[in-house]
Amino acid sequence: MRTVDLIEKKVEHGELTSEEIAFLIRGFLDGTVPDYQMAAMQMAIVFNGMTDREATDLTMEMMHSGDVVNLSELKGVKVDKHSTGGVGDTTTLVVAPLIAACGGTVAKMSGRGLGHTGGTLDKLESIPGTQVEIPLDRFKRIVNDLGVAVIGQSGDLDPADKKMYALRDVTATVRSIPLIASSIMSKKLAAGADAIVLDVKVGSGAFMRTLEEAQKLSKLMVEIGRRVGRRVVAVITDMNQPLGLAVGNALEVREAVELLSGRIPEGDPLYEVCMLLGTYMLLLSDLAKDKEQARKMLQEALQSGRGLKKLQQMITAQGGDASYLCMERIDELCSVKEIRPVYPEREGYVTAMNAERIGTAAQMLGAGRATKADRIDPAVGLVMKKRLGDSIRKDEPLCLMYLNDLSRADAAIAEFLSAFTISDEKPAYSPMVYDVIGE
Ligand code: URA
Ligand code: CA
Repeated sequence: MRTVDLIEKKVEHGELTSEEIAFLIRGFLDGTVPDYQMAAMQMAIVFNGMTDREATDLTMEMMHSGDVVNLSELKGVKVDKHSTGGVGDTTTLVVAPLIAACGGTVAKMSGRGLGHTGGTLDKLESIPGTQVEIPLDRFKRIVNDLGVAVIGQSGDLDPADKKMYALRDVTATVRSIPLIASSIMSKKLAAGADAIVLDVKVGSGAFMRTLEEAQKLSKLMVEIGRRVGRRVVAVITDMNQPLGLAVGNALEVREAVELLSGRIPEGDPLYEVCMLLGTYMLLLSDLAKDKEQARKMLQEALQSGRGLKKLQQMITAQGGDASYLCMERIDELCSVKEIRPVYPEREGYVTAMNAERIGTAAQMLGAGRATKADRIDPAVGLVMKKRLGDSIRKDEPLCLMYLNDLSRADAAIAEFLSAFTISDEKPAYSPMVYDVIGE
């Protein structure tokens, strides 16, 4: 078999066989398929796509390129959630403990922030002492005791994805639906879950900019799950503004604690997306018979304080100081040199927000990394004071910025303000949830 013939076949809109896909991925990992040939193949896939069968074979080959975590000794249905990446998306810190409080099992491997998007591991590490690199046997013991633990990916999980993603990042081949679907699903399957709820984001802060693209990606990921015998549901949710009000690591932990303390009302976007993801996680775990029952269970776990208790227990088990995780003390994690209000340049209505730029502004303050080597400042970031459709006045701030390095403020404020479109007309209502695939 020659790699050049396989590239030619994809250029000619051909369908690669399972053997050809295995040859490519194994060769790429052992170095016999060089970067330039893999990059050419990925570009051919960007233009000419893949069949569902090819995408499934690619996913399986990537999943088996490294360790596959075996969670079969843990009791119950192991349910995972995954977000395709957003701004102000702190759902894992809310939903994972709520599911455990409802009797579910969440053995979750999360990621770090990437570019303008935040990562659950960075948020967890803003709680002093919390460890996210935990040996697999201890991870499983915590999950068995509490029903929940959240750690980073173990060393050799899906090396094919790491290498392919690095190449895609620098060859403009990230935005391909089969490549994204196989990247996400291979990691989730290698992490060992029986059931997966995917939160596919669409909008200005997301990879998918249109609903149609998000639906295609969702359908493919659900189909890959079906073909390999896992239960997968994808919800498509809005990312045309930060999901929660907080953008930044400790600030997002604070918002999760507020939600779990009953301080955030029904109807709030973060609350509702948490309920939606939690509902499908309970249904896929066979713990609820319908959506109404699932929502009631989640709300009962929230209102009784059992969800917050679970989060505290999980943090304690992972070595962290859970005494911060209550309304009395959580502000201590968010203490900074200066909290500066940012005012709009004109009055009117917020008709559009570029969520990516809002994430970038928080990153510029030190909440995220511009390069892999950057250190995160856990306390900095911003808290939104206005949402899409709100009316704004020059004397009302759009956000409060949490600053430590004051020299970074001006550039971050300029980036933040550039995210807003303000006009005289109140915009039409836009939904939070667009679709559910695989119900
Ligand atoms: N997230 C991933 O894990 N992979 C992609 O290709 C895109 C988003
Ligand atoms: Ca295409």
